[in-house]
Amino acid sequence: MKKKWWNDKIAYQIYPKSFMDSNGDGIGDLRGIISKLDYLQELGIDIVWLSPVYKSPFVDQGYDISDYYAIAEEFGTMEEFDELLREAKERGISIIMDLVINHCSDKHEWFQKALKEPDGEYADYFYFRKGKNGNPPNNMRSYFGGSCWEPVPGTDKYYLHMFAKEQPDLNWENKKLRQKLYDMVNWWLDKGLAGFRIDAIINIKKDLDFPDYEPDGPDGLAGCWRMVESVDGVGELLEDLKNNTFKKYDAFTVGEVFNMKKDELPQFIGDNGHFSTIFDFSAHCLSNGEHGWYDSKPVDFKEWRRTVIASQLEVQKYGLEANIIENHDEPRGVSRFLPEYARNPKGTKMLGTVNVLLRGIPFIYQGQEIGMQNAKWNSIDEFDDINTIDQYNIAREAGLTEKEALDVCSAMSRDNARTPFQWSDEDNAGFTTGKPWLKVNSDYKDINVKSQIGDEDSVLNYYRRLIALRKSSEYKDVFAYGRFEPVYEDTDNVMAYYRTDNNKRVLVLANFGVDTVEVQLEYPIKKILLSNENRQESDKTLQLSGCEVMVAEVCA
Ligand code: GLC
Ligand code: CA
Repeated sequence: MKKKWWNDKIAYQIYPKSFMDSNGDGIGDLRGIISKLDYLQELGIDIVWLSPVYKSPFVDQGYDISDYYAIAEEFGTMEEFDELLREAKERGISIIMDLVINHCSDKHEWFQKALKEPDGEYADYFYFRKGKNGNPPNNMRSYFGGSCWEPVPGTDKYYLHMFAKEQPDLNWENKKLRQKLYDMVNWWLDKGLAGFRIDAIINIKKDLDFPDYEPDGPDGLAGCWRMVESVDGVGELLEDLKNNTFKKYDAFTVGEVFNMKKDELPQFIGDNGHFSTIFDFSAHCLSNGEHGWYDSKPVDFKEWRRTVIASQLEVQKYGLEANIIENHDEPRGVSRFLPEYARNPKGTKMLGTVNVLLRGIPFIYQGQEIGMQNAKWNSIDEFDDINTIDQYNIAREAGLTEKEALDVCSAMSRDNARTPFQWSDEDNAGFTTGKPWLKVNSDYKDINVKSQIGDEDSVLNYYRRLIALRKSSEYKDVFAYGRFEPVYEDTDNVMAYYRTDNNKRVLVLANFGVDTVEVQLEYPIKKILLSNENRQESDKTLQLSGCEVMVAEVCA
């Protein structure tokens, strides 16, 4: 593996709308982010990923962009953005932005022009297609429900949208459009961005025949991911994108890639891959339901362990992936990956340790570092997320009662990650002096930055130590480049692995169970590096209490 500047970095995802509101309108903003840069620096963050801050009607919370060259008014101005870049740089923090180029907003100038002239130049920036026998061109279901095709008013055509109908897909076969996208990407990179997180990018390649697929639901439609899985050629488009943009800037890129074909991993993340890295979603996919959230299953520890280990072993053959517990599209990791008895500071530290010390680039999602959890939702009206409303309806149509459908959404909703950041135990968790755009989690008096900052044992201070350990001059090489070797795979409730290179062997050992387990260490301990129990020493026979985690250099 060729070494790159970002290999040993720690990244942090900010969801701007919910991070910090500076002017009391209930919406987080750039000035709010600037005011918290010191906080991020003290946490040890090197790279910040900003979820979209571009101009947008916010049908999908900014993932529907109406002007790629403008900052959303809700969030501030371009001057403030430039200030954020400068202030971050002064603190040694690089900024990467979301790059949403599979689709734009229906309010984007290109789409508006296309609607005006459905046979004109701009219509070919999108997929405008005639229907079949009074039906849409094919039977694909969009990710947010309903057909992927929406009629173009006043014509016999439809346009394609794999997400909401307000997010028309861009036609990547059109070279002129591609060039416009590349110019835009380079414009941002020229400003000083370090790179991008690249949204939904696997979807850019379409099967231009738009065949019908085997229906997989009572609506007679088939999930559009079936096209993604069957069509070839996305790699050529991704190479074109990279060669015309990222490569010239040595930018850091992290792709959001689901439904990749088997064996394609080296092409995505190898030394000359399409991206620097992609997110590892393998553990998150364990709770995918066959038909929706309503038939998703809780994550089983053994399956989770097997999945994480298998992924680590596979990925290290080619490069690094980006490891997450949660993001803005997922429920909180503590609520999802930990059993109820472990959803406390001790368990939270354990899960964080096991994740952050894996091989790969850790991406911490805002609030994860204080142990934020899923909220309690009392009614479907409390949610804002378009995906949640769709999944609620799917659950109801499948026969679930209102209460059952609400429970499903409470467990899986993307809004669990989007509730305002909990800064303090003051009104609205210190996020805003106004009315927050989405409700604050009712647990904010127990879980917030202010109460944790002065408490050495808090989750926050533990995360600081964890990050500091990963970045320490002594251990950063073994954590960035060392091999991953699983161990104790047959011991009930234990998740453990070594990170090892020619100089060092570090053991990460966690007991996800409720009861103490006894572990026979293979090597004597040289030094305990981190513990959520203030463990100072241990014999070769180790009693690991329930939810205990220990990180130790061992004598190999
Ligand atoms: C990605 C984003 C998600 C968004 C979707 C459509 O999955 O992470 O938030 O809804 O793409 O842009
Ligand atoms: Ca604001």
